[in-house]
Amino acid sequence: MKEKIELRDWAGHITAMLPRGILLNTNGEKFNSMVIGWGALGTVWGRPAFTVYVRQSRYTKAQLDSTGEFTISVPLEKPDPEITRVCGTQSGYTVDKTSVLTPAQPGTTKTPGVKEYPLTLECRVIYAQDQDISLLPAEIRDRNYPQDVPGDSPMANRDHHTAYIGQIVDAYIIKE
Ligand SMILES: Cc1cc2nc3c(=O)[nH]c(=O)nc-3n(C[C@H](O)[C@H](O)[C@H](O)COP(=O)(O)O)c2cc1C
Repeated sequence: MKEKIELRDWAGHITAMLPRGILLNTNGEKFNSMVIGWGALGTVWGRPAFTVYVRQSRYTKAQLDSTGEFTISVPLEKPDPEITRVCGTQSGYTVDKTSVLTPAQPGTTKTPGVKEYPLTLECRVIYAQDQDISLLPAEIRDRNYPQDVPGDSPMANRDHHTAYIGQIVDAYIIKE
């Protein structure tokens, strides 16, 4: 069962949880979930939107590029350290994240949220743009793209991010 929510009632909670690690789910070849600490909840082109920033090396990027949709899952209390470990350091290229997550029936898109983090935003990508590292302030470039870990590692830091703006098409809390 799903309880629909008003985004404005939960905006503070979502933005408070984000830097602690929430989930970005995709469902292409298979269901997959990765931890994100960067993102933006807001309005663009007059639509409610959530923007995510995904490095090139992520399995999530391949899935996003093929499906054009994602869900955001936010814990009601706090992130679970085991979920953060598995989904924040291991890649869907080699690991099945459903070992720690239970996908729920989606509402409007084909991408499930997860029961463990019940606050769910279903999003359709309306714009995607590669970020140009050379345009960043040097301090941010040196800190976030130091170029010392190659792209096939979960801690890769050479590759840039792609910003995906997702229009929020459904928002709810999964109830058991
Ligand atoms: C707290 C935390 C926040 C993270 N935030 C992001 C992020 O915003 N963007 C990103 O590309 N990777 C981020 N990561 C790294 C990915 O979660 C990690 O590389 C993951 O294993 C990718 O999974 P995938 O290859 O299945 O997509 C974060 C990791 C942690 C632990």
